[in-house]
Amino acid sequence: MDDKEIFEKVYEKTGAVWTKTQPSKELVELIETGKVKPCKTVDLGCGEGFYSIYLASKGFDVTGIDISERAVRYAKENAAETGVKIKFMAIDVSDLHKLKDKFDFILEWALMHHIMPQQRQKYAEDVNRILKKGGKYMSVSFNEKSHTFSGPGEKYRKSGERAPGLKMYFSSLEELKELFGQYFKIIEAKLIEVPSVGFEKPHTENYLFMEKP
Ligand SMILES: C[S@@+](CC[C@H](N)C(=O)[O-])C[C@H]1O[C@@H](n2cnc3c(N)ncnc32)[C@H](O)[C@@H]1O
Repeated sequence: MDDKEIFEKVYEKTGAVWTKTQPSKELVELIETGKVKPCKTVDLGCGEGFYSIYLASKGFDVTGIDISERAVRYAKENAAETGVKIKFMAIDVSDLHKLKDKFDFILEWALMHHIMPQQRQKYAEDVNRILKKGGKYMSVSFNEKSHTFSGPGEKYRKSGERAPGLKMYFSSLEELKELFGQYFKIIEAKLIEVPSVGFEKPHTENYLFMEKP
C-alpha cells in the first residue's frame, strides 16, 4: 500500500488516533497574541479539519488540503456542523502547483514527518511559492529525540498498528532550520512536547515559526 492508501484506511472511520478536536496551545498562542492575524490561510495535511475550523471561527479565510479523500469528506462535514465556510480539497502536497492561490499563513501540523528527505527540497520550494511575501509559516513535526514509536536517535520509524505500513521520518531541528532557512526567516525554532495518545510520554516535536522575507 502507498501512503495515500494507508491514510484512506486509517480514515475508514472518523476520529483518527491523531485527531484532536481542540487546537493545540501553540496554535492558540499564535492567534491570541496576534502574531498571526486573520488572513488567507492554508492548512496542509488538514486531516479531519478541526484546526482549520478553529482558524475559520477566528475570522481566517481557510483552505484545507489533505491527501485523503475520506479525511476531506469528514472535514467538510465537521465544518458544516460548526457553521463555518472552509474550502477543503483532496490534494497531495507533492502537487501544490494545483493550488492557484497564494496565502498569508501556512499551517502545517504533523505533516512534515510524512514527507521523506528526498521530497523535502521540492516541498520547501513549493511552500515558498504559495506563501506571500511577509507571510507566516508554522511547521510542527516529530523530532528525532522523541521516545514515541521507537527510541531517541532513530530517524525512520513505523506507525505500527495505528497506521500499518506507514513509515515516518523524524527530523532534527537543525535539519529543518537548514531546509527552511533557505527560503524563510526563522522567527522561532524550538522543541515542544505534544500530548500523545497511548504512549507513556508526550511526543517531542520540532516547532518552527517562520516568515517569508
Ligand atoms: C498525523 S495527521 C495530522 C492531521 C492534522 N493536521 C491534525 O493535526 O489532526 C497527517 C495528515 O497528513 C495527511 N497527509 C500525509 N501525507 C500527505 C501528502 N503527501 N499530502 C497531503 N496530505 C498528506 C494525512 O492524510 C493526515 O491527515
